[in-house]
Amino acid sequence: MHHQPVLLRETMNLLSPKAGESICDVTLGLGGHASALLKKALPGGVLIGLDADPINLKEAGLRLEPLHATVELHHANFRDLAQVLSSPVDIIFADLGVSSPHFDDPERGFSFRNDGPLDLRFDQTSGIPAFEWIAQADQEEIAQALRDGGELRSAWSIADSVLRKKPTTTKQLQECVEEALGWRATAAMAQVFQAFRIAVNAEMQALQSLLAMGSRLLNSGGRFGVISYHSLEDRLVKQAFRALVTVQKDPHTGQDVETAMYTLLTKKAVTPSAEEILENPRARSAKLRVIQKTIQLL
Ligand SMILES: C[S@@+](CC[C@H](N)C(=O)[O-])C[C@H]1O[C@@H](n2cnc3c(N)ncnc32)[C@H](O)[C@@H]1O
Repeated sequence: MHHQPVLLRETMNLLSPKAGESICDVTLGLGGHASALLKKALPGGVLIGLDADPINLKEAGLRLEPLHATVELHHANFRDLAQVLSSPVDIIFADLGVSSPHFDDPERGFSFRNDGPLDLRFDQTSGIPAFEWIAQADQEEIAQALRDGGELRSAWSIADSVLRKKPTTTKQLQECVEEALGWRATAAMAQVFQAFRIAVNAEMQALQSLLAMGSRLLNSGGRFGVISYHSLEDRLVKQAFRALVTVQKDPHTGQDVETAMYTLLTKKAVTPSAEEILENPRARSAKLRVIQKTIQLL
């Protein structure tokens, strides 16, 4: 079943593409947001799409074909965006994390509801699957990943069980968590999978790089929007955007040294309506934040 892209109406209103603009969607997925954004940029608009997952990239390409627009697709991680873009764009958009096909295909290891190899990579053509990562990690590294990516208080005892059993399938990881937490395992399961996913894909590092360079890759008046799905991601986005819109002051005189180059278009994070959550429960934790690069009058 295909859901509406998350926060679609809100994303369209805030990013508000105009005819002829260039759009860079760094998490193309199945191209839901991208095709809606690109339609608004026609005629003349251009889409540059990235995805770490070559299978999604191909699907998105098929979905975008009927628009007969200029579309450039890159199998790339958005941490390398600066190398991918040859010139600044009008819109940069990221819809972080997992796409529905990842959850629905047991072979990818994202879902603990189905048994499958514990892979958890967005890009199966590079890096190592989660079960290999686990096999070569020590207890401290595993516990750290669980604390950082899952904010789990019982990280140490889950790590102990994982280290002894060396799970290679989603089912076996589930058993490790059950062994460590007993009846409390069910409530923690999603966080455990999320934590290993974040570690294996180095997601926080990738997001940090994107946030550090994204704003510099915008044209004057350009918009940069990010949809995040958990508090660790949202914290990074919020802090990075805050720093960009803050006026730099001289520490001695308190005078403004530099006027802020960016404006926050979302004072508070934008969240999905009750109707959207009812229709698509996976949207429930989504948060959208957008900044705009100040229009410079020449
Ligand atoms: C939530 S989905 C995007 C869905 C998309 N907005 C749509 O409407 O179909 C996130 C996508 O980002 C990709 N992804 C996650 N981290 C990435 C990264 N660091 N670089 C590039 N793509 C990434 C995933 O493979 C996945 O396809």
